[in-house]
Amino acid sequence: MKNRSLICDYDFSKEEIIKIFETAKRVKGEVKSGKFVPYLAGKTMGMIFEKSSTRTRVSFEVGMYQLGGSALFLSSKDIQLGRGENIEDTARVLSRYVDIIMARTFEHSKVEDLAKYGNVPVINGLTDLLHPCQALTDYYTTYEKGKKLEGLKFTYVGDGNNMAHSLMLTGAILGCHVWVASPTSMTVNADVVNKAKQLALKSGGSVNVTTDPKEACKNADVVYTDVWASMGQEAEFTAKEKVLRPYQVNKELFGLAKKDAFFMHCLPAHRAEEVTADVIDGPNSVIFDEAENRLHVQKAIVLFLMGK
Ligand code: CP
Ligand code: NVA
Repeated sequence: MKNRSLICDYDFSKEEIIKIFETAKRVKGEVKSGKFVPYLAGKTMGMIFEKSSTRTRVSFEVGMYQLGGSALFLSSKDIQLGRGENIEDTARVLSRYVDIIMARTFEHSKVEDLAKYGNVPVINGLTDLLHPCQALTDYYTTYEKGKKLEGLKFTYVGDGNNMAHSLMLTGAILGCHVWVASPTSMTVNADVVNKAKQLALKSGGSVNVTTDPKEACKNADVVYTDVWASMGQEAEFTAKEKVLRPYQVNKELFGLAKKDAFFMHCLPAHRAEEVTADVIDGPNSVIFDEAENRLHVQKAIVLFLMGK
């Protein structure tokens, strides 16, 4: 039987996500109380990066150490993949050395192919299409900080990018009312919206796509934004900035959300672009809890995929 992988947000069911959240809470508690449990003694993760990273690299690497295993940082610039060795051979070779692969790539098909041709679990550490580890962490953080996920109004404002897609899909699985406000020219992928709507039908949640940031933020429980130019799209920044200006999360826009609403951002952030400093550095911002929880949620994902 083929190994389980996390390539798309819907690779896990709601029940499996809840199980992962419970494990995340447990392993976080163990680390906080100074307890070292070597669940993955002797196990190694290979981490392929085609793009830059602070959080993903450090949280997966530290996470493997905290579980008693080890991790190898494999920049695509250094391994033969960057010189044209194909993904099929890379997947097959790495599967002979490591027990699990995490990969951050441009094309989404590359992580799919790593899982297809390799025979170890593969985790999507961000592609141009999706960022499931971040979305799982953000819903975990919302839940950990006391908000009930079913029926929650979870709003994303800005570029219709990988973060918007994963938040829509994971939120739909978990029964949230997900709102995405983006300009028409930067709207979310229609196939992802359709998939998220199907998932919401099952969970009792909903998926709402609009061009109106005010409607999306009104009475929201969470307001989320992300950079205006994702990695690899830097050349488009100037053109995008003009159109995205009305989608900036500032005091006025955030003020439409519930009083106790969380402000969230996957980071890295650009203050005075997608969010103003008073909001991201304000009392409702939970950005560093999100960043910290990447560590614990990803440990839970790895344990789940490795059958531990
Ligand atoms: N949020 C996130 O994935 O950050 P990095 O790009 O630093 O990994
Ligand atoms: N949308 C951003 C997320 C970074 C974590 C990017 O792809 O660059």
